Amino acid sequence: MTAPHTPPAGYRDAPLTDWDPDRPVDFAEAEEFLRACYAELPKLGPVEPRLAVVREQIAALGTYTHTHAELVHGARMAWRNASRCIGRVYWRSLTVLDRRQHRTPDKIFDDVVSHLHMATGEGPNRGKLRAVISIFGQAVPGRPVTRLWNDQLIRYAGYRNGDGMTGDPQYEQFTSAVSRLGWTGKGSAFDLLPLVLQTGDGEPHLYDLPESAVLEVPLAHPEYGWFAELGLRWHAVPAIANMRLSIGGVDYPLAPFSGWYMGTEIGARNLADAHRYNQIPVVAARMGLDTSSESTLWRDRALLELNRAVLWSFERAGVRVTDHHSESRLFLTHVERERRAGRDTPADWTWIVPPISGGLTPVFHRYYTEADQRPNFYLDRSAQQLSLTATAQVSVPAQRTSPERRTPAGPATAVCPITGQTGPMPGLEPEPLPADQDFGPDVDPHPGYAADPEATVPIPAGPASAPITAEPVPVRKRGLRRLLG
Ligand code: ARG
Repeated sequence: MTAPHTPPAGYRDAPLTDWDPDRPVDFAEAEEFLRACYAELPKLGPVEPRLAVVREQIAALGTYTHTHAELVHGARMAWRNASRCIGRVYWRSLTVLDRRQHRTPDKIFDDVVSHLHMATGEGPNRGKLRAVISIFGQAVPGRPVTRLWNDQLIRYAGYRNGDGMTGDPQYEQFTSAVSRLGWTGKGSAFDLLPLVLQTGDGEPHLYDLPESAVLEVPLAHPEYGWFAELGLRWHAVPAIANMRLSIGGVDYPLAPFSGWYMGTEIGARNLADAHRYNQIPVVAARMGLDTSSESTLWRDRALLELNRAVLWSFERAGVRVTDHHSESRLFLTHVERERRAGRDTPADWTWIVPPISGGLTPVFHRYYTEADQRPNFYLDRSAQQLSLTATAQVSVPAQRTSPERRTPAGPATAVCPITGQTGPMPGLEPEPLPADQDFGPDVDPHPGYAADPEATVPIPAGPASAPITAEPVPVRKRGLRRLLG
């Protein structure tokens, strides 16, 4: 664990993580997780017998397997510890799809498609998005890892044409790389990128997502009729696919997770950033704004209308979305619930504060603890590089790039400059949770997990086409076979 004053991995100027898939599990980390997990879920029974089993497995195999209950709760804890996520009040409601048995690219792709169906909602529930994570096989020392190159399950291609761009410039390199691998897009501004799966150093497999798995919302504006003519749209489900889930020292390199959007992610970043769809000048021109001087605040006015269009369109289409005011207040409710449970909520101010109207939201007016609490999700340098370039075996540059977030601003002053108050401003206190949403219970839910700490999921054999790359030590081979039955 990192001392609170040291920026954890990936914070501000701290480097992204480097991860060694062949490193054996650290028993101390397993123990720390298991003690926390069993303390939070008394139904699981005493932790001591479980610790003895895990200690033995690590000694023999270099790793251990989680029970289903540990996996579910570990994934929820990882979300709870994700310091850049403002939506953590919902952490207990995460649906965990245990896909540890599924290893071949074809099977993984099928599972990803079912993930998207479930996350999007089906039939009359289409648009009622749910938070879902699919957890594929854990890393095993000496075994090849299956990677998804994409940073999100659903993203749009970017094409350079002359001096201009069509689509999402962030994915220009990724798009040309998959094109070299044989993929062809339509060349529109919103072409869905294929998924690329690769086991070890094997051939990458490309898959197009079926239309039914991708819900999209065409954007219009409550007042400006011309807005729909811009032809803008966005996908309903944000699904991060390139972060490693780390639970009790066990790593799950492939564990895509998805939720629903806060409107600003689309309206103030994806469609607004100059290095993304860059729509602020376009909207301003259609609004007839005076762009001759910055002080007319034409950018801010266009930005506001773009954000209204996003929220209005999603709501009109019946697709779950949230706004930054409501979500900020809910985040503070979460911080308060966690405090009552005796836990700190680590948070990265530069990500928690929304990219518009920061000071209007209560999350602006305070500091947060910064700590690398585990379980957690980690973005490894190599995974990030792969997602940007779609090129395997890339050399990793020394300095970190942060494609997702604005240049980090300094933290808010701890003392409110207007009232001189510390902490949340008056009138911006946490608010009660709305009754119609699923946040999970405030108290330990004991959701009926089988108290069976011995029940482990066997580590499945890799696919025939993906041989073990490193030579495992004999004891591990024997041990793995025993575990496999
Ligand atoms: N900001 C990213 C995007 O625009 C998505 C990150 C996850 N967001 C979420 N609401 N779960 O696609």
